[in-house]
Amino acid sequence: SRPLLMDCDTGVDDAVALMYLCQTPGVDLRAVTTVAGNTSAEQAARNSLQVLQVAGRTDIPVAAGAAATLRGDVKPEASFVHGEGGLGGVTLPAPSAALDPRHAADLIIDTARESGGNLHILATAPLTNLALALRKEPRLPELVPHVTVMGGAVHHPGNISPVAEANIGNDPEAAALVLAADWDLTLVPLDVTMRENLTEAHRQRLLAGGTPVSRLAGEILDFYFAFHEQTALPFRGSACHDPLAAGIALGEVTPKLAPRLHVTVDTADGAARGALVADTRGLYLGYPEQPGARTSVVLETDGAFPDLLVDRLCQVRK
Ligand code: BDR
Ligand code: CA
Repeated sequence: SRPLLMDCDTGVDDAVALMYLCQTPGVDLRAVTTVAGNTSAEQAARNSLQVLQVAGRTDIPVAAGAAATLRGDVKPEASFVHGEGGLGGVTLPAPSAALDPRHAADLIIDTARESGGNLHILATAPLTNLALALRKEPRLPELVPHVTVMGGAVHHPGNISPVAEANIGNDPEAAALVLAADWDLTLVPLDVTMRENLTEAHRQRLLAGGTPVSRLAGEILDFYFAFHEQTALPFRGSACHDPLAAGIALGEVTPKLAPRLHVTVDTADGAARGALVADTRGLYLGYPEQPGARTSVVLETDGAFPDLLVDRLCQVRK
């Protein structure tokens, strides 16, 4: 299968997405890069190494990247969502593998060059590393035919402001650069990730699942569920942000509606900073696809992914 790189801010759902990639046969995961978001870039890198260790994949290079946004803002702390340390307060054994010494942006560029013009990037965090890589290597889109991004809110409310979602809103300048670059991009916004829900029944299956990754997923989701129950969902459970984007990136989820639209980001310093501006006008007029648009915006999925995800994490791999 196509070589894949995951750029993330390893919090709870990033970790679950990473475990899903590791558990899925045929996935050629080449590298993991991290950025400040759910936790610091360094902590996210350490979390990724630990999760990969549980998944038995200490061979995958992990590099830490941007600690601040393109314009130098330090991202606000998010331990109230992802727990102390970013993995729901769960502590794991120290990683046996060391971090890759490169900056995440350099590992992205090197991996793209080594992947024969065929690298797929899955980004589940603020897009600072990708933007830095684009600045440093403007030919990156020639080497990366497809990018899948979890981020934004189209018709759904935001989650860090009334209109902004965390991955886009925590570095709007970076998101604007990535959305304007010359590659095909699939955007997986809150409109779908808030509707593919993990429930307490899923979590119990994970805990009983019998693989190291299913147990870890069940444990770290406990804190995440409590956050969602208090703020975002009328039941104990969670959204399925980053894992759903991973499922779409692997082609295991086929969106029911994902028109190609022109998409930009509001980078002004006002109430709409970080909001996605997706031109959905055609949707209502019967010509959903916009000529020349390279961003597929996933607006509808069938809700079946959490079951597939849980089954996959519980599957014993030979
Ligand atoms: C996104 O923000 C982070 O908290 C999650 O990991 C996900 O990538 C959802 O808005
Ligand atoms: Ca994330």
